[in-house]
Amino acid sequence: MKVSFKKSLFALVASSALLLAACGTAQKDNNKNGSNGNEKKVLHVGTEATFPPFEFVDKGELTGFDVELLNALGEEAGYKIDMKNTGWDSMLAGLDSKDLDIGMSGITIKKDRLKSYDFSDPYYESEGFLILFKDNVEIKNAEDLKNLKVGVQNGTTGAEAAESVVGQNSKNISKYESSGLMFQALLSGSVDAAVTDKPVAEEYIKQNPDSNIKSVEDKERFKPEYYGIAFQKGSPYKEDFDKALSTLIENGKYTEIYKKWFDEEPKLDSLKD
Ligand code: ARG
Repeated sequence: MKVSFKKSLFALVASSALLLAACGTAQKDNNKNGSNGNEKKVLHVGTEATFPPFEFVDKGELTGFDVELLNALGEEAGYKIDMKNTGWDSMLAGLDSKDLDIGMSGITIKKDRLKSYDFSDPYYESEGFLILFKDNVEIKNAEDLKNLKVGVQNGTTGAEAAESVVGQNSKNISKYESSGLMFQALLSGSVDAAVTDKPVAEEYIKQNPDSNIKSVEDKERFKPEYYGIAFQKGSPYKEDFDKALSTLIENGKYTEIYKKWFDEEPKLDSLKD
């Protein structure tokens, strides 16, 4: 009697263990990001990290608004983020060749890019561009760029903005492969002016108060843009990151990160439409 009670208790424990194990498997299969509780799927991310305050290298580490936001989104969505400073062109090429899962680099969501990439919902509104120049030239608006040497980062919307004024492939335009090289060219006098995203231009002036760089805005010509996370076309991750973004906007984490980098409240309504 005693023995058989023990036996049936053993059977009960064994079968519950089996049941639990089965549930575990089912749960794992349901989990489309592939994490099995302790091992998260690693997503490979490229960026061009001379674009403060969005992405830059500080003491050998990638940091900035984009970097922190993407890490928080990855955390929320259950992925591990492996971000490398690939440079701009290699970031896009890496998405094309499927070596990279994500491009996070203050990338403006725009029509022609949507042909090649999927984008997350917008995560930042950039209020157009600033024209930067040293105090030996005078620029009142974009028209004044016409007779000057203008530096831009190759393949960016700032480059398009400058070209929309001075003409495509004008010999007066110098295109640099990174935002940092564009700023250097302006500082060294290789170019008279530079055109770049307003928040990045403002950050540059703030960080380099002795550089004698002035700025002017041309709201007539240069309209606001929205940044998105770039994915491979048809990527399975877009949905998870969109969901994570709306969660972080709702639970205040997005605002926390935003305030840390921009020292002001985010305009959340502008991201909605
Ligand atoms: N927002 C602009 C664009 O998408 C410039 C982005 C440049 N980003 C960078 N990390 N250098 O074209």
